[in-house]
Amino acid sequence: MNRMLARALALAAAIAPIAIVATSAGAQFAGGYRYQSGQDLYTHICQGCHMPDGKGAEGAGKYPPLAGNVKLQSPLYPVLVMLKGQKAMPSFSDLTDAQIVEVTAYIRSNFGNSFAGAVTPEQVKALRAQAVRQNALRPG
Ligand code: HEC
Repeated sequence: MNRMLARALALAAAIAPIAIVATSAGAQFAGGYRYQSGQDLYTHICQGCHMPDGKGAEGAGKYPPLAGNVKLQSPLYPVLVMLKGQKAMPSFSDLTDAQIVEVTAYIRSNFGNSFAGAVTPEQVKALRAQAVRQNALRPG
């Protein structure tokens, strides 16, 4: 066997298991969001737009505050915003039901917020099905 080919085969054999590991990790973490706690999820996904103090920002775009936002009184509202996306906010439907429960609890109990009640993974699951149906029906 020529040396180039031998090297190429050795390389392919070395790479293949890595590719398999990467694929299964991706599936496990549902779209690659590996963070599980509400705080980690907020820090790594949300705060770039809504700011570390949850007060939002206004500049090139308008990022509403989550601090003192009465719309968070219902835990279902942020869940729907995350699942469906809303105007300039992209959908985060790649998050698992459990991750959405955690980050919802985090934004409703931080930044000076202390809204009562919690959303359950079962509710997120039901809303997800609804959001998928609505997005599927959306024209364009
Ligand atoms: C790329 C920027 C961006 C990221 C990242 C982002 N958001 Fe938003 N978010 C927005 C914008 C812009 C709006 C306003 C949408 C509109 O005009 O209705 C918004 C709206 C919201 C609202 C509704 C607020 C209201 O007053 O109606 C909630 C709740 C929310 N985001 C939560 C989150 C959470 C939780 C995360 C992280 C999982 C997140 N956002 C990540 C940009 C972002």
